[in-house]
Amino acid sequence: MHRQLEATIDRSFESTIEFAREKDQQDPLQSFRSRFYFPPHQGGDAIYFCGNSLGLQPKDAEAAIRQELNDWKELAIGGYLHAQNPWLYYHDNFTRPLSKIVGCLEEEVTVMNALTVNLHLLLLSFYHPDTQRYHIIMEAGAFPSDQYALETQARIHGFDPDDIIVEISPRDGEKTLREEDILAAIEKYNDTLALVLFGGINYYTGQLFDMQAITAAAHRAGAFAGFDLAHAVGNTPLQLHDWDVDFAVWCSYKYLNSGPGAAGGAYIHERYARNKDLVRLGGWWGNEEAARFKMEKGFIPKSNAGGWSLSTAQVFNMAALKASLPLFEEAGMERLRAKSLELTAYLAYLLDQLDNLSFEIITPAEPERRGAQLSLYFSARGKEIHQKMIEAGIIVDYREPGVIRVAPAPLYNSFEDVYRFYLILKLFQ
Ligand SMILES: Cc1ncc(COP(=O)(O)O)c(C=O)c1O
Repeated sequence: MHRQLEATIDRSFESTIEFAREKDQQDPLQSFRSRFYFPPHQGGDAIYFCGNSLGLQPKDAEAAIRQELNDWKELAIGGYLHAQNPWLYYHDNFTRPLSKIVGCLEEEVTVMNALTVNLHLLLLSFYHPDTQRYHIIMEAGAFPSDQYALETQARIHGFDPDDIIVEISPRDGEKTLREEDILAAIEKYNDTLALVLFGGINYYTGQLFDMQAITAAAHRAGAFAGFDLAHAVGNTPLQLHDWDVDFAVWCSYKYLNSGPGAAGGAYIHERYARNKDLVRLGGWWGNEEAARFKMEKGFIPKSNAGGWSLSTAQVFNMAALKASLPLFEEAGMERLRAKSLELTAYLAYLLDQLDNLSFEIITPAEPERRGAQLSLYFSARGKEIHQKMIEAGIIVDYREPGVIRVAPAPLYNSFEDVYRFYLILKLFQ
């Protein structure tokens, strides 16, 4: 059974609880764990490896939400200007920390709506097919919402999605994409290519794509490059501005730990903020602030990513983000990534020692081609094994067909969590 390329397994690890605890002792980010609530299991904490689906609740989130509830109670309409965090400018709280997480200028990032809504909004600006350029390149097996978004956008423009959406698939017998195949497809479609839309990390396989190379190739072809960063944001360091990415969208409920349905984020390269040729939908929250309450005709978009906002800030959907993002500033993405590489490598090392279960790790073995998550493919019994994990207090998720996704989040997971996970799996028949 092929688990991981032997050469990528770090043999300096040890499969003992003492080793795991020693690693935790040495971990400079160790104290962040105590700032989150873990779901309980039989009097202790569950092993939570599902931060790629829904991040844990930061202990400060309740106070952040309560603050807004109180200000609403005490100030009512006055909260827009006089709340402790005035609601009129609430989204501005996020630009600095998010710009560090995704690697861009503060003007290039905003918080609004949810991922799929933002994807549609930005596709309206960045996908304008004509008879010359109409193809979209995406990964096969992209998250369904992205597939639906592109399919319906194609129809809005009068195209049959099957004619214009080109999906890049793994080669026969392989589970992940080869970068060279992505770049070759972009080159092939060249002057008919309008857009490349990829996940930063594929939700199913956990493959991290070379966003810089994909963007450069798209630009050489004369197309736009956009990314769905749902699984990349807060997971791996990003440099969207320096990579020259045109636009990106993400959600805040996974690695960003901001709660179910939390407001999503969007990045738009600064060169587009004032570009009048790029159409967009207008709404008063995206209008120049000074003119917002003049109630006059004529949409004048803000000269930053906020110019794509439409509606009043969704304060209650953003309050947990206000508690969560400062943790990333304190920890720093580079330190988080350094820990994540070790944590996931330790997981791969321990999984390699299990000979009682039959599965394949389909996530790339090379650390630079993956984030925190490892996807374990079970050709048989996947659902049953997942159920056994849940009963044993291991929270991971199952995605058809046959994949259990295991994502130790470096902000709150420990080496001991990974070791305990292995010990439990070792007993499975
Ligand atoms: C990769 C990816 N894209 C898009 C979505 C959809 O996000 P939303 O429901 O916030 O629109 C998800 C949700 O899990 C996702 O994982």
